[in-house]
Amino acid sequence: MFPSLQELRRRLRATGYISNPVDTTTIYLAACLHKPVLLEGPAGSGKTQLAYAIADAAGSTVERLQCYQGINEDVAIGKFDESLQRLCVELKSKSTTVEWDSLQTELHARQFFVAGPLLRALEYKEPCVLLIDELDKVDQAFEAVLLELLSVWRLSIPKLGTVKADSIPFVVLTSNEERRIGDPLRRRSFYLRVEHPSAEREAEIVALKTPSASREFHAGLAGLAKALRGWSLEKPPSVSEILDLALALKVLGEERVTPDMRDMLLPLLAKTEADRKKLLLRDGFASLVYDAQQHTQETLRSVV
Ligand SMILES: Nc1ncnc2c1ncn2[C@@H]1O[C@H](COP(=O)(O)OP(=O)(O)O)[C@@H](O)[C@H]1O
Ligand SMILES: [Mg+2]
Repeated sequence: MFPSLQELRRRLRATGYISNPVDTTTIYLAACLHKPVLLEGPAGSGKTQLAYAIADAAGSTVERLQCYQGINEDVAIGKFDESLQRLCVELKSKSTTVEWDSLQTELHARQFFVAGPLLRALEYKEPCVLLIDELDKVDQAFEAVLLELLSVWRLSIPKLGTVKADSIPFVVLTSNEERRIGDPLRRRSFYLRVEHPSAEREAEIVALKTPSASREFHAGLAGLAKALRGWSLEKPPSVSEILDLALALKVLGEERVTPDMRDMLLPLLAKTEADRKKLLLRDGFASLVYDAQQHTQETLRSVV
């Protein structure tokens, strides 16, 4: 999928994804060895985005299976199109003699089967990226469906038969850790933790989304993110929420967060009642802004 590690690094960056060297190497090895990558970490930390960035970097597409409670094989793998089958039977019955056995075989051919993302991913001529997103939302039984696919790159589908991969997809599994993913899937995968980024990396990410803003602005937001995450909030902000804040400040024409902006910014920073109360405490917000300024200075010094 990628000619070299250096080339993958260059291409990922060009897609606008800021990755660290260890993650990039793991992705490269996974692509070479046909290993799935399991990305685990808090929501909004860039897991889904990484799958799209890998596809972009490889010049391929993403087949996405969005998991949810109660998802079944019909959605993941696909199912026979009954109305099309019925239509076929009607048409045939109008013509001459119908041979039952051959009709049965015909009705269960690939053209009557509507593929879901897992099957589609095996049918690409060139490897695609198969994103199985938020796997922690499904139960353990569904993981078993994936095991066959990920170990032998084949799917056994009742009545249709066994479908072998035309190309082996690059598989990205993501989890927000609401449920623990089972060990058999862990064993087959390389494991990457996607945590909140360092302040330097977060400043880079903010810079990508608000390229016209100043260095101080980018470092300021990274500093505020670090301060907020150091405050043991019930729901610390993710990268995506810091990006929302950056864009909001741009809309408001503000260059930095100051203590008097508390009430205006609270809906963007505190997403639970407990966190709201914490930031509303006397001097709470002012001392947060103070902490943020310290982190901002550190960030600016370290990226000189
Ligand atoms: N390393 C990164 N480089 C660039 N953008 C990032 C990065 N991490 C997070 N983001 C931004 O955060 C947003 C949310 O990430 P997302 O992939 O939806 O999170 P998750 O899937 O972990 O919940 C993305 O749309 C992207 O803009
Ligand atoms: Mg996601």
